[in-house]
Amino acid sequence: MKSWSDDNNMKVISFSIFKGGTGKTTSSVNTAVALANKGKRVLLVDLDQQASATRYLDLDPEQIPSLYEIYMGAKPAALAIKKTKHGVDMLTSNALLAAIEEALEPGDELKLDEFLTPLKPSYDFILVDTPPGKAMLAFNGLAAADLIVIPASAERMAVDGVGDLINHVQRIMWNKFSLSHQELRILFTMYRATTSHSPAIVSNARKIWRENILPMKIPHSTVFSRSYDLKTPVAKLEPKHPGALAYGLFAEWLIKYNEDNSV
Ligand SMILES: Nc1ncnc2c1ncn2[C@@H]1O[C@H](COP(=O)(O)OP(=O)(O)OP(=O)(O)O)[C@@H](O)[C@H]1O
Ligand SMILES: [Mg+2]
Repeated sequence: MKSWSDDNNMKVISFSIFKGGTGKTTSSVNTAVALANKGKRVLLVDLDQQASATRYLDLDPEQIPSLYEIYMGAKPAALAIKKTKHGVDMLTSNALLAAIEEALEPGDELKLDEFLTPLKPSYDFILVDTPPGKAMLAFNGLAAADLIVIPASAERMAVDGVGDLINHVQRIMWNKFSLSHQELRILFTMYRATTSHSPAIVSNARKIWRENILPMKIPHSTVFSRSYDLKTPVAKLEPKHPGALAYGLFAEWLIKYNEDNSV
């Protein structure tokens, strides 16, 4: 079984929920940039064949090597790392990952963990953007994580999606592999403080998952879609925007979490 000390205080953090469109990519990208802005060495892994995180940080999905070459065994992960303009390193994705998804079999959940292990001494944080759905690549992201961050929309019914992910991780993955060192936290996104709907969703979730709900919430804002369209993280586009500040707070929380769990 892994322990915190094995990886020299390095944390792998996956952004995971099977439900689509709740802010996995937006959160992984903007958190990665916020951590890099605080001087941390960050690798972002794009496990989604839609390659949204790759495009968000203005890298070309067609440029090889990508995660496809790593999974095919054609390149070690260390030789596939690309630099972005925003201080974050990346392992990029493209549509070819669909073939990897097809080829992976039950039991292959730990492949990403194997690829990432030699990279861990070079980074303070490795963040993984996972695809939606109960797919093998999503399970690879989950199995590689020390901390699973579940981005949940405070706009729509989040509770079912969060419960589904937590049940899958605890009942299936922790039984199948030795992963019970993992921790789970819920990050509310798309939060509208001015309606009664978002606060009600969060207070409902707090009754169930209590201290696993992160204290900061990511506000609902069009700045995020604009940021994606302009291929510019919010911290660069509008550093004082409440959305940028919220991801900054989350980055600080992660740094503290890392220190508190250090040996
Ligand atoms: N806090 C927010 N406020 C408003 N819109 C947001 C917020 N976060 C993300 N969005 C928008 O919601 C959409 C879905 O976000 P995102 O792509 O991050 O979700 P995802 O969980 O990665 O989706 P998928 O499951 O397809 O990978 C995007 O258009 C994004 O710009
Ligand atoms: Mg996504």
